[in-house]
Amino acid sequence: MNTASSFPAVPERYVVIGNPVAHSKSPFIHGSFARETAQHIDYRHLLAPLDGFADAVHAFREAGGKGANVTVPFKLEAFALATELTPRAQAAGAVNTLKFDGSRMLGDNTDGVGLVADIMRNASCSLAGKRVLLLGAGGAARGVLLPLLMESPAQLVIANRTLARAEELAAQARRHGHVSACEFSLLDGRFDLVINATSASINDEVPPIPAGVFAGGSLAYDMMYGSRPTVFLHFAAQHGAQTRDGLGMLVEQAAEAFHLWRGVRPDTQAVFAELRRAMEQQA
Ligand code: ATR
Repeated sequence: MNTASSFPAVPERYVVIGNPVAHSKSPFIHGSFARETAQHIDYRHLLAPLDGFADAVHAFREAGGKGANVTVPFKLEAFALATELTPRAQAAGAVNTLKFDGSRMLGDNTDGVGLVADIMRNASCSLAGKRVLLLGAGGAARGVLLPLLMESPAQLVIANRTLARAEELAAQARRHGHVSACEFSLLDGRFDLVINATSASINDEVPPIPAGVFAGGSLAYDMMYGSRPTVFLHFAAQHGAQTRDGLGMLVEQAAEAFHLWRGVRPDTQAVFAELRRAMEQQA
């Protein structure tokens, strides 16, 4: 049987745009999703000059591109460039997914929903009625705040080295749920879920939080991932927490972007397992 006729002759094109971008696993992930769902797409890396993001996006779109994932350092520029924004991109103040449709350019942010999917579906941890601690008040924290609040935690505390940033973020989000801000040293009691959205792990540092925030049954989640557990996860495990790194969030945010573009939801388990295996081999 010849099934080729059911495909467009030319695959529809997508990219991940960043600088640097060669390290991005998105082409591998989306390539796997496409095979699994029989979608005929071509997904590649696109290195944009640091001062040339908008030009690179326009050129790609004019060449027939259908969508793009956006990574460091262009998520704010993508937010400004989009002609329409989803509510979650508006709340995040940043865009990690663009969808091109004629002259329209829809900006979405799938990071938060990816985090929530990984926590709830893959780690089987519900959020409703739980105490949640979010460490950090930069772009990564802002990007996940609204989707976390949509799951109705009893309380969400934002703790940050610079308290004023945590207070500002909490004030913006207060109409969506029970959010407050706190200094690291004043954190009190245990939390069901502790999410590290600071960039401290990049420098092998741990935010200076009391060990009592973790307790048997807490889930400690680091939005970073690597071939070894981050120092934050190591610290959390020493104090009785279950741990999870951000690899699942990476795969789930990609699945959400794939769904936005293609209208089909890929299975994420096989890609996740393959990435984990490859990372363990690097360790
Ligand atoms: P990102 O986009 O990764 O969130 P960012 O906007 O620069 O990057 O924010 C980095 C976050 O990590 C901030 O919350 C920062 O705290 P400050 O607001 O006080 O700068 C936090 N951070 C970075 N290094 C840290 C460290 N060693 N300990 C604790 N927090 C740290």
